[in-house]
Amino acid sequence: MSDQKPSQVSESVGGVSEELGARSGLLPASSGSRFVRACLRRPVDRTPVWFLRQAGRYMPEYMAVRKHHSLLEICKKPELAAEVTITAAEKLDVDAAIIFADLLLPLESMGLPFEFQAGEGPVIHQPVRTAEDVARLRTDKTGDLIYVAQAIEKVVAHFKDALGIIGFTGAPFTLASYMIEGGGSRNYIETKKLMYRQPDAWRLLLEKLAIVLRDYARQQVEGGADVIQIFDSWVGALCEEDYREFVLPVTTTLVREVQAMGVPVIYFGVDSASLLPAMKETGADVLGLDWRTPLDVAWRDLDYGCAVQGNLDPITLFAEPELIRNRVRNILAKAGGRPGHIFNLGHGIAPGTPVENVQAVVKFVREYAQEMQHG
Ligand code: CP3
Repeated sequence: MSDQKPSQVSESVGGVSEELGARSGLLPASSGSRFVRACLRRPVDRTPVWFLRQAGRYMPEYMAVRKHHSLLEICKKPELAAEVTITAAEKLDVDAAIIFADLLLPLESMGLPFEFQAGEGPVIHQPVRTAEDVARLRTDKTGDLIYVAQAIEKVVAHFKDALGIIGFTGAPFTLASYMIEGGGSRNYIETKKLMYRQPDAWRLLLEKLAIVLRDYARQQVEGGADVIQIFDSWVGALCEEDYREFVLPVTTTLVREVQAMGVPVIYFGVDSASLLPAMKETGADVLGLDWRTPLDVAWRDLDYGCAVQGNLDPITLFAEPELIRNRVRNILAKAGGRPGHIFNLGHGIAPGTPVENVQAVVKFVREYAQEMQHG
């Protein structure tokens, strides 16, 4: 049961409480999907569950579509993107469907084409390295990304109110890091060089990204997304001081602009334990937790001032069901029935994960809820 006082729901940092209150006000106390209610720290009948990368290469149905279409083709054809999204959510019987798309799609609309090279991940051929490169980036072509909103419309038409529908964008830092490095990175040397040595170009880059990501999120909300998740996957590369100085202000602007569209925001990063209190200052409704921090410790350190999502190690899904069951139950016990927990992994499902183990997690989450209700 909840030990949370109702007043805590509206207690939040930096004036966000009023916005949260306004958004919550849109939702009568007894309504809203289980998932959306949990995002707003409302009581739910049982903990909602969904998975990062729930539609992906571990799933045979996805691979069957991939046999005939590239990743970008699937993203850009609303029928295909919707089909992949729906199939995964139904097969797993989860409480939310995340739209099938990719983090990097906005780069193309800003004038930076990229491709996925087999085994290498994304490659951006002309990385952003100078103030001139930043000046050239466009912020007026976000309409090109409308296919994502169109896919969301189809998913909403299919599920109606039965599931929460999640739209998503990258966060300014994580997208900037791809633009500057030209792909994934180990040490983020080029990214940090631009940040430290050309702070004006850095700020302009992040501001341009925030404009595009806001407009992109708006399209998705207009398409029917109930919640927007902002992926700051690689923010853990930063120390708190750099995060606060170079990333937090623009990210806060983005989070609040998306919330002003009337939807809750989930803000997620990996390796982020030391940054969580600063990340909370964005005012995000939910923080995604990676698996390295115990959920109870992380939530307490956040003063229970936001909802939390997570945080099973995705590689646990390669273990035997009995171990998985224990780990799922331990996470639910750490959440302690407090309103505002969404069960998820600490990062995306890895290729090769047995599908039945993912399905088993959903079963374990529900089984636990039943036991709690019936003693
Ligand atoms: O159900 C879902 O979550 C699928 C939708 C989705 C994809 N990418 C499709 C995809 C989502 C939410 C993403 C987000 C994404 N993309 C992130 C943030 C999430 C995270 O993991 O932190 C990042 C960093 C990217 C960029 C990206 N796209 C990478 C690094 C890769 C992996 C390359 C590789 O080969 O492993 C991709 C490719 C990608 N995007 C795949 C999928 C299902 C797998 C590749 C494929 O189908 O060919």
